[in-house]
Amino acid sequence: MATALITGASSGIGLALARVFAADGIDVILSARSEDKLHALAKEVREKYRVKARVIAADLSLPGEAQKIYDRVVEQVDYLVNNAGFGVYGGFAETDWMAEAAMLQVNIVALTQLTKLFLPGMIARGRGKILNVASTAAFQPGPMMAVYFATKAYVLSFSEAIARELKGTGVSITALCPGATETGFQRAAGATGSRVFDSRTLPTGADVAAYSYKALQRQKRVAIHGAINKMLAFGVRLLPRRAVVAITKTLISRSE
Ligand SMILES: NC(=O)c1ccc[n+]([C@@H]2O[C@H](COP(=O)([O-])OP(=O)(O)OC[C@H]3O[C@@H](n4cnc5c(N)ncnc54)[C@H](OP(=O)(O)O)[C@@H]3O)[C@@H](O)[C@H]2O)c1
Repeated sequence: MATALITGASSGIGLALARVFAADGIDVILSARSEDKLHALAKEVREKYRVKARVIAADLSLPGEAQKIYDRVVEQVDYLVNNAGFGVYGGFAETDWMAEAAMLQVNIVALTQLTKLFLPGMIARGRGKILNVASTAAFQPGPMMAVYFATKAYVLSFSEAIARELKGTGVSITALCPGATETGFQRAAGATGSRVFDSRTLPTGADVAAYSYKALQRQKRVAIHGAINKMLAFGVRLLPRRAVVAITKTLISRSE
């Protein structure tokens, strides 16, 4: 029986991913801050899919929490899903530093440290899969969410580099790049009203999770969800960078 450790499993894409893993008979270890939601999900997947599910509550904005998660995991982790993350919306001169520092810790430091902690065991066993949740934000700078976009560029760059290092080890790493998705993200980021979220019907966390799971199993290095997102990620390579940043600002800004 395989086991998946999933961070940010209390809502959105992470919660949907936990259901997808469990539906495929994989035991889950669920982590996030919202312990009640995690226990409700653990109960749900235990009853519905007959898998083992347990909860490790952790606040990944605090240094040391990634290590604490690792220390509490006694199971052999076959899948590591670094999904916990959030954004902060607003012009950089006005945004709150404490929120941004926490975001850097969650989106970058904790993801990197969890990868470092779990990877050697996977390599020693000659098998394992890591899913690092980046974003289509990784492909260009994002005015009004400058730090968030930069954190996702980091996740993509880091994951692609490690993927090459892991060639031939039996361990794979996939950078997942969802576009705007209907989850708690928009509200948590304070991005309500932003054109990129409000201008169309968005895919759900379940849509993204189903796609991600297949991409992870196929050992894709970079998995971009949705045909339009794939086109846009390719398109930014062709346009002048200055034009890309200007268009991105228009998309992220609130409509008047
Ligand atoms: N939704 C989008 O449009 C979109 C697009 C591209 C990429 N993404 C990425 O997808 C991932 C999942 O986000 P989502 O869209 O599913 O949003 P969400 O519904 O807000 O879920 C975010 C998850 O991260 C957890 N989290 C946030 N801060 C945390 C902390 N300090 N410590 C531990 N866990 C924390 C949350 O749990 P608690 O609050 O319970 O701690 C929650 O489970 C993120 O990395 C996000 O950047 C989202």
